Amino acid sequence: MNRMFAMNRMLSFSFRDAILRMTPGKEETAMNVIKTILNRHSYRGSYSREPVPRRDLITVMEAGLAAPSGCNMQTTSLLAVDDPAILEEFRRIIDPPVGETAPAAICVLTRRVNAYRDKCFATQDYSAAIENMLLAMEELGYRSCWYEGHITDDDRICDRMAALLNVPEDYELVCFLPVGIPEEEAKLPRKKAFGERAWFNRFPDPGEPQQLSLLRSTRNTRDLGGYRTTDGRRTRFNRIYRSDKLGSLSREDTEKLLSKRITTIIDMREEPTAHLVPDLLTIPEAFSVYHCPMNEGAAVPETVEAVPGTYLEIACADNIGRIFRTIAEAKEGVLFHCSAGKDRTGVVAALLLLLCGVDEETVIGDYMLTKLYLWEGFEKLRTGKPIYDLNIVIPRESFMRDFLALFRGRFGNISSYFEWLGLNDEEVNALQNKLLDEQE
Ligand SMILES: Cc1cc2nc3c(=O)[nH]c(=O)nc-3n(C[C@H](O)[C@H](O)[C@H](O)COP(=O)(O)O)c2cc1C
Repeated sequence: MNRMFAMNRMLSFSFRDAILRMTPGKEETAMNVIKTILNRHSYRGSYSREPVPRRDLITVMEAGLAAPSGCNMQTTSLLAVDDPAILEEFRRIIDPPVGETAPAAICVLTRRVNAYRDKCFATQDYSAAIENMLLAMEELGYRSCWYEGHITDDDRICDRMAALLNVPEDYELVCFLPVGIPEEEAKLPRKKAFGERAWFNRFPDPGEPQQLSLLRSTRNTRDLGGYRTTDGRRTRFNRIYRSDKLGSLSREDTEKLLSKRITTIIDMREEPTAHLVPDLLTIPEAFSVYHCPMNEGAAVPETVEAVPGTYLEIACADNIGRIFRTIAEAKEGVLFHCSAGKDRTGVVAALLLLLCGVDEETVIGDYMLTKLYLWEGFEKLRTGKPIYDLNIVIPRESFMRDFLALFRGRFGNISSYFEWLGLNDEEVNALQNKLLDEQE
């Protein structure tokens, strides 16, 4: 934790322009921004006494002022407080106390002016500014909390703060953001699942399952296309799909696969599962179907710690070479799947992406999507009779990250792995080209 703060704080040696100059490649920056957004949480613990340098407060305020505003009316203004005497006064005024150990704070001011006619966007404007500042603080290694309800309630703490800070009448102090280095871990709130609040294309009817999967009759079918490679290319769409089982594949979905020229299906499920619930291909003659059973990874591992090792077993499974050869030799697009499209499918997808030069963080991201796609199933497991330990079943970044470390330890790099598997250069090239080359 401390090392992370130290690193983040090193980043803050200068103002916004310097930060922008320092940023790495565009793709990497995008990932960092998303990580910062996802890592941000309200912090209500105590702060270290270490002062916040003015340059960092300026950077944070610049981030706030950079936010969009309705009709560019720029209704938000900011007032940073780092004077210990004023902070002491705040402690007197803010009752019950919040952020009282913070060595600095930013107060958010708004002017309720109309953008046009009777439309005032001041609330939206300052909300955008606040979120920008919370993210900037997160990135710089500080923590904060959006205190608005607390100070704008009937006791109008905000008005007393405004008077103390000499704020003119036409400005309203609406939010108090403590700034400082945290001394504790933030308590994470329970957030609703993605699928409870976000959808694609239409608002679902009550009880209607979430439709993230590419196919309507599966839960976890995804295209491996669209990923950036480290040499600046992108994996192609409609070349390789990863999926859960196709046991209830509808005619519409079968036709969709054919329209995308996905005509090779590889079923990696073990026996007898694959025979009990066979893939349902309503136009079987249009597909080349291969059953390449993998017993490795078929059972739920016994402990959380065992999961990455199981993934290594999948990478070394008896049939894995056959699976990659089948993908390489397929005339058109390929769909490979296991039962849930999580572990065996996850490892095969990871190895394919690595072979194409997709970086490990992206590979981990691809793996983690299963958590989102299958959330309803995981939720049912959570609320139903506990059959499995959910800590083992639900994907975690560390499962894939630790597997990749084990994989590196065992094989060094992805090329040595395919050499170990016995695939020759031609086969490996064909495999790469499947995902990377121009469509004939
Ligand atoms: C408009 C607004 C007002 C808020 N006011 C307060 C507040 O007065 N006190 C407080 O502890 N948190 C306040 N929060 C923080 C929320 O409680 C917090 O964002 C929410 O619980 C989700 O947690 P997270 O920020 O960790 O994602 C406020 C947030 C918003 C957006």
